[in-house]
Amino acid sequence: MLDLATGKVHDETRQGEAFAPFANDVNQHNKKFYIESYGCQMNFSDSEIVASILQEEGFGATRNYEEADLILLNTCSIREKAEQTVRKRLTEFRKIKEANPGMLVGVLGCMAERLKSKFLEEEKLVDIVVGPDAYRTLPVLIEEAETGQKAVNVLLSREETYADISPVRLDSNGVTAFVSIMRGCNNMCSFCVVPFTRGRERSRDAYSIVAEAQSLFDCGYKEVTLLGQNVDSYYWMDEANDEIVTFGKLLEKVALVSSTLRVRFSTSHPKDITDEVLHTMAKHENICNYIHLPLQSGSTRVLQLMNRTYTREWYIAKVNRIREIIPDCGISSDVIAGFCTETEEDHADTLSMMQSSAYDMSYMFFYSERPGTLAAKRYKDDVPEDVKKRRLKEIVELQNKLSYESNSKDVGKTFKVLIEGNSKKSEADWMGRSSQNKVIVFPKADYGYKKGDYAFVQVTDFTQATLIGEVVKK
Ligand code: SAH
Ligand code: SF4
Ligand code: F3S
Repeated sequence: MLDLATGKVHDETRQGEAFAPFANDVNQHNKKFYIESYGCQMNFSDSEIVASILQEEGFGATRNYEEADLILLNTCSIREKAEQTVRKRLTEFRKIKEANPGMLVGVLGCMAERLKSKFLEEEKLVDIVVGPDAYRTLPVLIEEAETGQKAVNVLLSREETYADISPVRLDSNGVTAFVSIMRGCNNMCSFCVVPFTRGRERSRDAYSIVAEAQSLFDCGYKEVTLLGQNVDSYYWMDEANDEIVTFGKLLEKVALVSSTLRVRFSTSHPKDITDEVLHTMAKHENICNYIHLPLQSGSTRVLQLMNRTYTREWYIAKVNRIREIIPDCGISSDVIAGFCTETEEDHADTLSMMQSSAYDMSYMFFYSERPGTLAAKRYKDDVPEDVKKRRLKEIVELQNKLSYESNSKDVGKTFKVLIEGNSKKSEADWMGRSSQNKVIVFPKADYGYKKGDYAFVQVTDFTQATLIGEVVKK
């Protein structure tokens, strides 16, 4: 597996940073591409597939867009702000394009899919528009664009999973990697644009997933995160063995690659996460005790309008079940403030659910109406912006308190930590994560650990976002 490019993901959803790739030496065309990703880990993972497709064609990667022949933005449509960020970024490329008219600009991903060829009219600078299921056609589209035509392919597919493509790892720390296990979403949450931008749900061949995890492990990786919009609905028929591979079974297969390879996954839908998955997690030490279980709203009435198909009581029962089967499980959430018709009472229900679920962490947003979604068609976006923002502020403040409380309970406890690299603040400290996905920083001292090693670390102190500890045994 190639491990030659370093990238950055601008993570609007997951609140990360912006990433851009390194130069590499496989460059038969003497042409270079630069790729930037926005949105969720799925998009980041797709950029690794795109990089692989371009490299097969002999393109080299560069992390300096000024020397690129092809600039690609892998875009997100999840909230209006995500699209604004991309548009702003495009204007920054205008000058470079003026200075170098031969340079091509391509827009990939969800915003490309949503706007289709309209994108070309709206953003004159864009030469290529490619949707998430059409990346195999990029080389042809580039050729087309090189002749001065505008090139578009936004066809969605019912089958494409890029199963056979071995992704080039972008921005790799060499320790953790993402493996896409399915694409699309069939859920139709009324606020969400994803079913429209990513199409129907389809699961990737289980063998190719296990092979990718194995190959990562062989290259020294110590953690894989299995990605899907709704991993619990993973379903693949293994014709050869006449076996239905559910998500629980897939998790087990990946966990069996090696007991020293950690396995994580995201995202779980409260309506679909099964006892089979929870028992599989409990059975294998290397499947991390961490579940991202988006709540969205704590009010059953709002959940119904959101088409989430569970109630407040169902969600509480799921959290209880998780804590029963995996007592030390970390749980995080996504919460939306100010969805259509949300009252103060509904908002209070969200706060009380957050409190009772005692999330370790949450991603919190105010509702942003997306054109074409069920909510945009059916309901009025009637919560005033100042009210949305005030509610979001209350949600964020509560989560800060919950994160602080959760961290304070870890003081004195010892965690097995996978070392991901130097701490941001000091090269004298390591940064790693516990099984529960909490970041732990601790002095390297003279224990002789390296990146990718496991260390047992006792927590001595904490901030709202980070645990601080010391190695207890080698
Ligand atoms: N598949 C995942 C979520 C994908 S999108 C799941 O079902 O949980 C990530 C998060 O963005 C969602 O969980 C939701 O909280 C938020 N989100 C999606 N659409 C949104 C919108 N229109 N406005 C505000 N937040 C939104
Ligand atoms: Fe969107 Fe719902 Fe699908 Fe998640 S499960 S991607 S929120 S439609
Ligand atoms: Fe954004 Fe598409 Fe992901 S809309 S959140 S990049 S699936």
